[in-house]
Amino acid sequence: ERAPLIDPFARPITYLRMSVTDRCDFRCTYCMAEHMQFLPKRDLLTLEELDRLSSVFIGLGVRKLRITGGEPLVRRDIMSFLRAASRHLGDGLDELTLTTNGSQLARFAPDLAAMGVRRINVSLDTLDAQKFAAITRWGRLEQVMQGISAAKAAGLRVKINTVALKGFNEEELFSLLDWCAAEGHDLTFIEVMPMGDMSETERLGQYWPLSDLRARLAERFNLIDLAERTGGPARYVRLAETGQKIGFITPLTHNFCESCNRVRVTCTGELYMCLGQEDRADLRAPLRASEDDTLLREAIRAAIARKPKGHDFDYSRQSVAGQVSRHMSHTGG
Ligand code: GTP
Ligand code: 5AD
Ligand code: SF4
Repeated sequence: ERAPLIDPFARPITYLRMSVTDRCDFRCTYCMAEHMQFLPKRDLLTLEELDRLSSVFIGLGVRKLRITGGEPLVRRDIMSFLRAASRHLGDGLDELTLTTNGSQLARFAPDLAAMGVRRINVSLDTLDAQKFAAITRWGRLEQVMQGISAAKAAGLRVKINTVALKGFNEEELFSLLDWCAAEGHDLTFIEVMPMGDMSETERLGQYWPLSDLRARLAERFNLIDLAERTGGPARYVRLAETGQKIGFITPLTHNFCESCNRVRVTCTGELYMCLGQEDRADLRAPLRASEDDTLLREAIRAAIARKPKGHDFDYSRQSVAGQVSRHMSHTGG
């Protein structure tokens, strides 16, 4: 009953992304609607339930746990959950990490480092304060910059996630690159995925394929493709001239579905087997039905047994196929 989780395509599931809240202090336009209706608090898994759930997954072979949101660090008492989860490090769990917008890092970075978090991913699409306020609908760049500095000062490795947006951060490609090089941060670009309630015209208007971005980089640098992976979907290149490592996440090309090792749990305990599909399994009911974990394990196994081969996202032929109406903040990316 402790056999590892293997899906129908022989992919071992070793990476759990766990969303701890649907709330966020920002409203990135590609992630949330301006007026989001947030879930009532009583629908959320409690911190104890989150702990039990993550422990069960670790017992089933999960080695990497990434906490997401919404913004994970706005959940009340989240640090006590993280501290509890850190007990698995070195005992089943290889990596405990989070994806954050950085707004609360100035407060939490030292504690995160102390409990064994080694690296974090911070979402940052622009270095221009006005543009930052526009894309997040009201965020303060300065606050995030202070958070990132605090993370670095605490000894955390920082990976910047930049969603590539046509007409928005195209001209900032090299300034982002230079800033990350100067600060010692890794940098990953992400193709924008069609989720939420944007119209097709808006979607196509903001889509900046990373093949273009890569070609622009290649005009200035020699790019060396790297074989290494982090267990996430990114492919990496090294800029021969500077040694800088750059990641690319191109969800629309399918090239990481074949080695997909991850599932995600929402803050209400729904298990999504694929980011780009609607199919999900409720884990809250088996979690609440019994103190014993047997039902929960069975529900997880049954869900993994129907993990799909991949998503259906597609921006080709001048239209957007495979769009998922749920917002990105629901599954935490
Ligand atoms: P690393 O540990 O640094 O490799 O992290 P990661 O890339 O796994 O996590 P992160 O939270 O930084 O995610 C970066 C982007 O990749 C987000 O926009 C995610 O939505 C996207 N992403 C992660 N996993 C998947 C996936 O299975 N399918 C798709 N389509 N996108 C994914
Ligand atoms: N497409 C691609 N990435 C997205 N993110 C949020 N919404 C989208 C989207 N529609 C990113 C955030 C964060 C990560 C968890 O997901 O910028 O870095
Ligand atoms: Fe918040 Fe991150 Fe979504 Fe932006 S992308 S609204 S920071 S959860």
